[in-house]
Amino acid sequence: MWTEERLESLLTTPSEGLIEDIKKIQGDIYILGAGGKMGPSLALLAKNACTAAGIDKKICAVSRFSNPSIAKELNQRGIETISMDLMAEGAIDSLPYVDNIIYMAAKKFGTKGNESETWATNVMLPSLVARKFKGSKIVVFSSGNLYPMVPIHSGGSIDDSPTAPIGDYAMSTLGRERIFEYAANEYNTKVLIYRLNYAIDLRYGVLSDLANKILNDEVIDLHSGNFNCIWQGYANEVAIRSLLFASSPATRLNITGPETVSVRYAAGLLGKYLGKAPKFMGIESDTAYLNNASKCFEIFGYPSVSLNQLIQWQAEWILDGGHQLNIPTHFEEREGNY
Ligand SMILES: NC(=O)c1ccc[n+]([C@@H]2O[C@H](COP(=O)([O-])OP(=O)(O)OC[C@H]3O[C@@H](n4cnc5c(N)ncnc54)[C@H](OP(=O)(O)O)[C@@H]3O)[C@@H](O)[C@H]2O)c1
Repeated sequence: MWTEERLESLLTTPSEGLIEDIKKIQGDIYILGAGGKMGPSLALLAKNACTAAGIDKKICAVSRFSNPSIAKELNQRGIETISMDLMAEGAIDSLPYVDNIIYMAAKKFGTKGNESETWATNVMLPSLVARKFKGSKIVVFSSGNLYPMVPIHSGGSIDDSPTAPIGDYAMSTLGRERIFEYAANEYNTKVLIYRLNYAIDLRYGVLSDLANKILNDEVIDLHSGNFNCIWQGYANEVAIRSLLFASSPATRLNITGPETVSVRYAAGLLGKYLGKAPKFMGIESDTAYLNNASKCFEIFGYPSVSLNQLIQWQAEWILDGGHQLNIPTHFEEREGNY
């Protein structure tokens, strides 16, 4: 039987590799933009790794915390929180200098019609952060959708493939990267650009999108017929350990699962576990947003949770009445409209 406690335990139990690496990370860790879908479990994972390693390190989660109960829960688990709009006048200056920053603040959904806010969040805010934290190591969350769509048999874009962002969200996310790259070049700030494709934490994600379509009798369009995804526990672990690989000039790292996942396959297996056959329309395009994370696996090892395991967990989570965030990924979007 799935419960929030079981899911949280899976997401926040550190691996031996993380426990060893957290001992090597000097100084405190501040997570900026920690109140979203990934930040709370990342903060708890970092805290649990410190506890398991027997070290004392402040893990501080900074965010607007539009949902204040998230900050409260983090506090109860020993994580310091700072509730602030980082864009507010003087907000960044009020933060202390810290050795390590995991930068997660972003705006994606609601960009259409409010493009200027997306650019301000994704580019202007990074400039303020980059100026303040010149001496820090910074892991900068970014997106795998900065690369062009590639042939589905190509093995995916590699970490240094040329970018070709489509639409304001992807363009401004590249802008965020460029600002931090500038800081790495100009101020010698140690930076790692973390390009992520679709985390799965059961409460949201591409598999949750597909499962809900099956259960709601919605037809699944196969046009965007392939994707990558990764267990969020692994993605968060890599983000923390990546502090050790931040460099000047900046390092770029793709983070996603090892498979090119077929929508037809994933939906079919979900349907089997859910006891309901998916309905499909259309045929698969020859191209998709696909990234190759071989470099990540070489450094940190393969994810401990397999694709089939994720699919089974996703179906069980929904059948057990697990909470859904109801924030679709829009992974099928090909024109950059979010
Ligand atoms: N989840 C994925 O599968 C995925 C895939 C690719 C890339 N990414 C990127 O990875 C990062 C983390 O993902 P996520 O899913 O956790 O993102 P998310 O749910 O959008 O969370 C971003 C957080 O940043 C906070 N924030 C934004 N602007 C802020 C501001 N001005 N001041 C203070 N806080 C601010 C948000 O505010 P509140 O505290 O008010 O909520 C939110 O908590 C993001 O940069 C995202 O674009 C995620």
